[in-house]
Amino acid sequence: MSLNEQSALEQTYMMHTINREPVCLVKGSGMNVYDDQGKEYLDFLGGIGVCSLGHCHPAVTKAISDQAAKLIHISNLFYIEHRGQVAHMVSDLLNAYVPTDEQSPWQSFFANSGAEANECAIKLARRWSQSFGTGGSTILTLDGGFHGRTLASLAATAQPAKQERFQPLPAGFAHTPLNDCEALEKAFEQHGDEICAIMVECIQGEGGVHPCTPEFLQTAQRVAHEHKAVLICDEVQSGVYRCGRPFAFQLFGITPDIVSIAKGIASGFPMGMCAARQNVAAAFEPGDHGSTFGGSNLAVAAAHATLTTLAQEGILENAQTVGSYLREQLATLGDVVEVRGYGLMDACDLRDGIDAPTVVLKALSCGLLLNATGPHTLRFLPPLICSTNDVDVLMEKLPTIL
Ligand SMILES: Cc1ncc(COP(=O)(O)O)c(C=O)c1O
Repeated sequence: MSLNEQSALEQTYMMHTINREPVCLVKGSGMNVYDDQGKEYLDFLGGIGVCSLGHCHPAVTKAISDQAAKLIHISNLFYIEHRGQVAHMVSDLLNAYVPTDEQSPWQSFFANSGAEANECAIKLARRWSQSFGTGGSTILTLDGGFHGRTLASLAATAQPAKQERFQPLPAGFAHTPLNDCEALEKAFEQHGDEICAIMVECIQGEGGVHPCTPEFLQTAQRVAHEHKAVLICDEVQSGVYRCGRPFAFQLFGITPDIVSIAKGIASGFPMGMCAARQNVAAAFEPGDHGSTFGGSNLAVAAAHATLTTLAQEGILENAQTVGSYLREQLATLGDVVEVRGYGLMDACDLRDGIDAPTVVLKALSCGLLLNATGPHTLRFLPPLICSTNDVDVLMEKLPTIL
């Protein structure tokens, strides 16, 4: 089927919730994807930070196809191969910077997406507060953040433009400015009894890769605990090695109580996780939360293969080295006014007069998949196997495109 035919069908039979790039991508391998005409593209978006091992990594493809031939779904009423191992691996990654004698297991709930992982985090924080905190129910989040598109995760997403058409949103959310320690302390001083959690992205991704400062995150952890609230880190985009650490919070000298995870965890098989420290997870009782599909046989097979391979292939070092190289190279471009990021979660702002969505479109014709998060911002979330050679190819083409 031609691109025009595909596009006509989608126009007629799909809801218009997003504007698509004019290309139909049909296969991929590593850093490359190919359209229906056989044209090759170098992928600096990685399925929006999902394809951590690159496209169709043999270990993941094999795990999914072997599992699909064995048992696809059986439900959460039963034990499932690999599920305990995946939860254990994630717990070890969350504990990576905790001294061994202070480590205790993190306990996870398996969901199907980032928004669902956050829904679980929100419910758990409220449940925890009823049992062990002040009984407050308000979730404090940061202006400009992004936590998903379900009603509660949208209420947590402090971006009026995304929220206003869907009022009334669920109650129990309040917002405070990014990196403003004073405002944060004041919010807790005035409403501490009502707040059960502060939920943050350590690095705001959808907003254009804006990191929190270490001081701000450390203040958030301290005031949350002083007021018997929990700290939730939304690591949906920044987690699973993306930022050159297993999780981004490990860059900032904090340890959250609850962490939401999705995107890179299963290489594109839909999966989300909400992990909590044992004493916090203890607030949930059977029946408090659930999911038909979450943590299904196929999902955990994909996650198990992904996490095993990520640990084996020197991905962490690669994300650090290639990420630094990418930021250095971007900073040399005359049309770039600012570069931000950690590991392979990076962005650059373009000078006034250059329209980022137009750059993305032009890049497509030059065989590059790029992404704009705003009128002047390009974001880079390539597979974590991205090499300095791939960055060199990007840098050969980008100046002309700009
Ligand atoms: C930080 C963050 N949280 C939550 C979400 C929502 O994840 P999903 O689209 O899988 O529901 C996203 C998606 O981009 C995200 O970046």
